[in-house]
Amino acid sequence: MTVWTPVALARDIEPGTATGTTVDGDSVALWRGTDGTVHAWADRCPHRGMRLSFGFVRENRLVCLYHGWQFDGAGACRHVPAHPRMEPPKTVKPQQYRAIESAGLVWVAPTDAGGTPDVPGTAITPVRSVWIDGDRDTALSLLGLEGTGALVTGALDGTDVIAGIQTIDAHTTAVHVVAAGIVPADTVNALVHRLHEFRDSVSSVREAVAS
Ligand code: FES
Repeated sequence: MTVWTPVALARDIEPGTATGTTVDGDSVALWRGTDGTVHAWADRCPHRGMRLSFGFVRENRLVCLYHGWQFDGAGACRHVPAHPRMEPPKTVKPQQYRAIESAGLVWVAPTDAGGTPDVPGTAITPVRSVWIDGDRDTALSLLGLEGTGALVTGALDGTDVIAGIQTIDAHTTAVHVVAAGIVPADTVNALVHRLHEFRDSVSSVREAVAS
């Protein structure tokens, strides 16, 4: 990961939950505290390497599933269950990324990334994230969208959309779609249906080639 990358629809990372994703092959744990703040860390516990995305959120701490070490939003270890009276080690921290929400998307970047993502200032309506079997060009061509960078705009079945493009790896691209403006539920449902059709058409091709 080298630049700001959209990794989820903001509404899909609910308070008190943790999940995992991948950016350019790097595993990332995403979690949101009950205070609403979203965090992105390397998906590796600094204790023994367990995936932090397998853990759970307790208030505003991420708890590792393996030995239960608890990390606050700044990555500081606050509690070690096996040694509850021990002062947690200050140097043991998960690798952190920057994480912000903008245009209805969660964005992550290395800690030395400057600024914020360049996004349109319009109101948006969340639609759906889909994972497409194919690289970025394949995904954009399938959806009939064009553009460079992490965010592309265009029309999908006549509705203006903004799509955050996340390269998972060489073979998979996640596309996080929001509609530009406030659109009715029927329009959202139609867009979701269309996105699933696009996604499934590529999967079907791949399965047909494999069989
Ligand atoms: S591996 Fe995470 S607490 Fe031990």
